[in-house]
Amino acid sequence: MEFDVFTLLPEVFPAYLESSILQRAHSRGLINVRLHNIRDWATDKHHTTDDVPYGGGGGMVMKTTPIFAAVESVVGPQPNFPVILLTPQGRVFTQQVAMELAACSRLALLCGRYEGVDERIREHLVTDEISIGDYVLTGGELPALILIDALARLVPGVLGDPDGACDDSHASGLLEYPHYTRPPEFRGWKVPDVLLSGDHAKVAAWRREQALQRTLQRRPDLLATASLSERDREHLERLHKESKKP
Ligand code: ADE
Repeated sequence: MEFDVFTLLPEVFPAYLESSILQRAHSRGLINVRLHNIRDWATDKHHTTDDVPYGGGGGMVMKTTPIFAAVESVVGPQPNFPVILLTPQGRVFTQQVAMELAACSRLALLCGRYEGVDERIREHLVTDEISIGDYVLTGGELPALILIDALARLVPGVLGDPDGACDDSHASGLLEYPHYTRPPEFRGWKVPDVLLSGDHAKVAAWRREQALQRTLQRRPDLLATASLSERDREHLERLHKESKKP
């Protein structure tokens, strides 16, 4: 999967991209992240990339000229892949959105800074806008890294375990079941017996029930859209009844 990132702060990316899993994905040719400094396309003497807003008010706005020049020279005039602006005004990034975007072989990511970008960039250059949540950061660089990280781990071969991404929290619409590793007892706290039983069917059933219970306790909103079997619904009904007992 190929990423072209347009930013005023390319220097903030390498430390994270060179960390273990992403670095390995890159060296195995599974992902490629190209960083483009928008300032390189600013043609005036001071390499200006922002300006005061028309109509007054505080803050600065990222200019059209360098951004159009940067993006068009790298992706061409009519790219057949998404050009995504990272902005708190975008659609909220979820695992579903990650799975949708992971089907693309290439993405362009535009990181906004300051008060935002000139509206003509949204209208005539970008094809999608994504927010990583309802809070405002100083720029789109961390959101771009988050998006790259979430998509990279969905690229086949990036995670050591081929099923690694399948059980993830959110992949099935539920939160993930709890994990344990050695030792079987730590400070008197024991690993649930079923996980030591070697009975794969029982383990799978326990994990599903735990995932349902966790989701019910922590994120009941997710149950409305999760894909649930008849058995799942019966278990939820049981949990619901138990929670009502005095
Ligand atoms: N830029 C600033 N805040 C953001 C957010 N929450 N999501 C995406 N881009 C942003």
